[in-house]
Amino acid sequence: MPDLLDSLPTLEALFTPSPESVASSIKKFQAEIKRGLNGENSSIAMHPSYVSRPTGREVGEFVALDMGGSNVRVTVVVLAGDGVISVKQHETLRLSRIDGEAADLFDPIAAFIGSVLEEGRNYDLGFIFAFPTDQAGVNRGRLTKWTKEFAFRGVEGNDVSELLEQSIVRQTGTIPELKSVSVTALANDTVGVLVTGAYSDARCDMGLIVATGTNMAVAVDRTLVSRPLPPTVGNPDEMLFNMECGNFDGVVSIQTPYDRILDAESDSQGQLLEKMISGRYLGEIVRLVVAGMISEGRGFSGWNGLNSVFRVPYGFTTEHLSDIAHDETPELAGVGMLLNRLGVGAVGIHERSVFKKTCQLVAGRSARMVAMSIAATTLYIDPLLESQHVVAVDGSLFRGYPGYQEGVQAGLQEMLGDSAAERALVSYIRDGSGIGAAIIAAVAGAGSS
Ligand code: BGC
Repeated sequence: MPDLLDSLPTLEALFTPSPESVASSIKKFQAEIKRGLNGENSSIAMHPSYVSRPTGREVGEFVALDMGGSNVRVTVVVLAGDGVISVKQHETLRLSRIDGEAADLFDPIAAFIGSVLEEGRNYDLGFIFAFPTDQAGVNRGRLTKWTKEFAFRGVEGNDVSELLEQSIVRQTGTIPELKSVSVTALANDTVGVLVTGAYSDARCDMGLIVATGTNMAVAVDRTLVSRPLPPTVGNPDEMLFNMECGNFDGVVSIQTPYDRILDAESDSQGQLLEKMISGRYLGEIVRLVVAGMISEGRGFSGWNGLNSVFRVPYGFTTEHLSDIAHDETPELAGVGMLLNRLGVGAVGIHERSVFKKTCQLVAGRSARMVAMSIAATTLYIDPLLESQHVVAVDGSLFRGYPGYQEGVQAGLQEMLGDSAAERALVSYIRDGSGIGAAIIAAVAGAGSS
């Protein structure tokens, strides 16, 4: 019978693309950015967001709605100018479902906004909608397709600000606080985190989310784009683009068989880079590796018993993966206990350590692919790395997975070289995307000083 340990070098090779193939992904990524910017068909759509970076002098009080995963957040944000931001209120609603009709999504969200606000005040609301959206203005945009396995009907192809406004109107009778809310801005979460970074640091020109989903935004000088672009609110010479690079498909040659199974079994095919990086998928990739080893008779035997999470698609989650990484004891006692709780039964040290290594390989590849996206984007806007760039990052995976940030940093050093990597500083900003909605509402005209 093949030994489980013998499988490790194979897994290592599968989940560690060579530096040459990463370099070739960087080239393809840049070619896709170019096509996207030119309005050609591309797996990196580059949606204009109709807004530039803020000056840092915007002031006022705004409401931010952040909808990007199962947690919806409403934040009341006060911008004081000089890059100073304070949060007056911050509430979270956990969505009980990720499919249904449009009203099943927007009605509870509108009611939740009403429960946070005071009656008799006017509110400008910035709406972060963290899905691919083809914008038609600073507060208008149609969902092009659901990602992250969301599947509410009647939203794709429709203006999401309008759907939110309709839900707000439907409920003003019973929730009078909603009467005075206007949706002033609509933006992707990556654009939100970019503007939050830029509000206090003018060098910030990229935004990145590494959470349930993944994506980047970038500030582009109009002179770099050959086609006419719509006007920008704010600085007319610049446009922020929601890249939608989670959909990048130049990674087919480095996909493992597990990535291909994951994509084939997903509710929506595509989003190939996102499926290698984001929190929605990492646990499932590990589960598919375990399932593969079991069916080849290589090990993990009995791990898919009746009460085991490994039996169920998406039963093993990225949070579990993070718990595994936290256990640094030589005996991996925590891993053993967790597996027990997950219905696996008693597991020897041998299997525990191969399993932990598998989790590390999958998470490590995710961090390296994030570095690939940052390196490619930075080199696109500044091929000789002549300026200092800052990438503002938000997201639970980036923040919570032990060693993730170091993995991204190591990847940048590998791809750009040690000193050039310092030209792309990665800076974590908690709740950056939601706060950004308020800043965009301010740039959109409600409160510049
Ligand atoms: C969406 C992006 C979003 C990202 C991070 C992806 O699934 O397509 O619009 O920015 O998740 O939330």
